[in-house]
Amino acid sequence: MVPHNFAAGDRIQKEKERGIYVIKEGRCEIFLNDDKMEMLDRGDFFFESTVLFGSPDLYQVRAINNTEAYFIGSEALENIPIVQWKLFELYNKRLSRITSNGDDGSTPNFQWKEEYSVSVQEIDADHKRMLEAAEKLNRAIEIKENREVLNDILDFLITYTREHFKKEEDMMKSYFYPEAEEHSKKHAKLTEEVLSLKNTFDAGEIEMDSEFINFLQSWIIDHILTEDMQCGTFLNHRSIY
Ligand SMILES: [Fe+2]
Ligand SMILES: [Fe+2]
Repeated sequence: MVPHNFAAGDRIQKEKERGIYVIKEGRCEIFLNDDKMEMLDRGDFFFESTVLFGSPDLYQVRAINNTEAYFIGSEALENIPIVQWKLFELYNKRLSRITSNGDDGSTPNFQWKEEYSVSVQEIDADHKRMLEAAEKLNRAIEIKENREVLNDILDFLITYTREHFKKEEDMMKSYFYPEAEEHSKKHAKLTEEVLSLKNTFDAGEIEMDSEFINFLQSWIIDHILTEDMQCGTFLNHRSIY
């Protein structure tokens, strides 16, 4: 544990190595663009994404008062399931605030945000197109379009996403990305999940509704913000933008 001191108003930068900060004394705030997201006091921690996924967190942190915080490197946190679980729980809570319209995270939102950028142009362009298709489906469900129209939009989204997955997998292989296999397995799982839901729609067992839209939101965005972000960081280090 390395102690660090920050003056009131200081932006707290991420360390080069992976790890979290835990506040010993003082007060900080988490913010995104100009929006305040969360106040942090003694015992609170931040920068969990660097430990969990090796990718930078989407939010920024600044000290409100003079603050003393400990930096704990990720090697001290690995292999402690309860700590990993706590970090993951917090990560999910903060992520749902970032991806939602309102504070409660209940309104699906497929608008592209700069925080979704993995800093690789080709991948970002695909992600934007996927979000557009999901938003189109969202609107079609809202205005109660007929089944045929809904199916066409969903088919487009699934086909486009599968092509995108293939493109990412080819890129990962060409640049010898060490997590390529795990990432591809995640793609396979995501494909299986959406196809199984599509089968239940086709069989008339359930209707496409707001619950499905909520599913689609995390289906697309959670993967972008975790595995894709991690892959983007790797590709950037190989000078791919
Ligand atoms: Fe991916
Ligand atoms: Fe992706």
